[in-house]
Amino acid sequence: MGRKTWESLTRRPLPGRLNLVLTRQPEYEAEGAVACGDFAEALAIAREQAAEDGKDEICVIGGADLFALALPRALRIYLTEVDGDPAGDVTMPPLGETGWRETTREVVAAGPDDEYPTVFRVLERSPPP
Ligand SMILES: NC(=O)c1ccc[n+]([C@@H]2O[C@H](COP(=O)([O-])OP(=O)(O)OC[C@H]3O[C@@H](n4cnc5c(N)ncnc54)[C@H](OP(=O)(O)O)[C@@H]3O)[C@@H](O)[C@H]2O)c1
Repeated sequence: MGRKTWESLTRRPLPGRLNLVLTRQPEYEAEGAVACGDFAEALAIAREQAAEDGKDEICVIGGADLFALALPRALRIYLTEVDGDPAGDVTMPPLGETGWRETTREVVAAGPDDEYPTVFRVLERSPPP
């Protein structure tokens, strides 16, 4: 994740996994996580940890800068579409759905706990790069 996303987490780090924080600040300390100055290096560390843990997935969880770095290499996207129009100052880079195929789609209607309908989608790169 990017440094700003890290700083937005209330209970940090995310439990049960290695948290990698990308920053250009060489002295940055992310308690309970590993700060990293380079995306390729972060990927290498994540791959090594995944192999050690027997996991086959590395997740890039944002924000916009990190999504822009990761999208060209991503093989799977867990995409949540919320049918609302809230104000905001960070936007995901345009995805463009060419080259992706939807493998899962779950529609959740608005209800007492959420005023907006939501769609949870999984997109797989197709064909693989
Ligand atoms: N709704 C969601 O699912 C979701 C998910 C993620 C984030 N968010 C929200 O998005 C906001 C943060 O997103 P953001 O796009 O503003 O910031 P961000 O991507 O989380 O972090 C940006 C920072 O990452 C570091 N960075 C970026 N590219 C780098 C590179 N190539 N090499 C080294 N470091 C690099 C820099 O840190 P330094 O400035 O320290 O150098 C940069 O300022 C937060 O409000 C968060 O809550 C929402």
